[in-house]
Amino acid sequence: MKFFIDTADVAEIKDLAATGLVDGVTTNPSLIAKSGRPILEVIKEICGVVDGPVSAEVTATDHETMMKEAALLLKLADNIAIKVPLTVDGLKTCKALSDDGIQVNVTLCFSAGQALLAAKAGAAFISPFVGRLDDIGINGMDLIADIADIYANFDFDTEILVASVRGPQHVIDAAKLGADVATLPPAVLRALYNHPLTDKGLDAFLKDWAKTGQSIL
Ligand code: G3P
Repeated sequence: MKFFIDTADVAEIKDLAATGLVDGVTTNPSLIAKSGRPILEVIKEICGVVDGPVSAEVTATDHETMMKEAALLLKLADNIAIKVPLTVDGLKTCKALSDDGIQVNVTLCFSAGQALLAAKAGAAFISPFVGRLDDIGINGMDLIADIADIYANFDFDTEILVASVRGPQHVIDAAKLGADVATLPPAVLRALYNHPLTDKGLDAFLKDWAKTGQSIL
């Protein structure tokens, strides 16, 4: 399972990339706004930090302007994936870019039918938002299971990129369902390391070790 980081905070990305566990980055207009930086500058910088795909989202809503924005974003680096919303124009753009061999991440997916359309449009990634579904009382993970079943039926190459992840349990559930990628807010990746019994166990080991007076080095 691949881990992407869902942020436009370059310092966070650098810090987490040093773990060796980061396979890519996803951004969206809200995350760019939060960074307070110009989109082209920040995306280019992120592309220099990670080797894997960096999702940069178009902000136009019509196909022609989306294509122009994509062309500009693609000039920034070789590891850009163009992110488009799951709309008629977004999927037209997905089809056109995919036909040219460009990786496209289709975002704002909330139904299995939408995911089917994105796969048919040649998306490299489909981004179902599990947390936002949970927020309105619909089990987001059921959507991941449905998409996984549908994609398996037709051998679609589109990777399931679980987005809107709120905590470690989402990551575990997505992994159990065989999702290809989870895009994690930095705090969620950090939280995955933690278990109170790990802390307690390490504390006890270190105390017992200190009593021996030994040193490995
Ligand atoms: O990048 C898209 C997605 O991960 C957004 O998550 O927390 O704003 O629902 P969230």
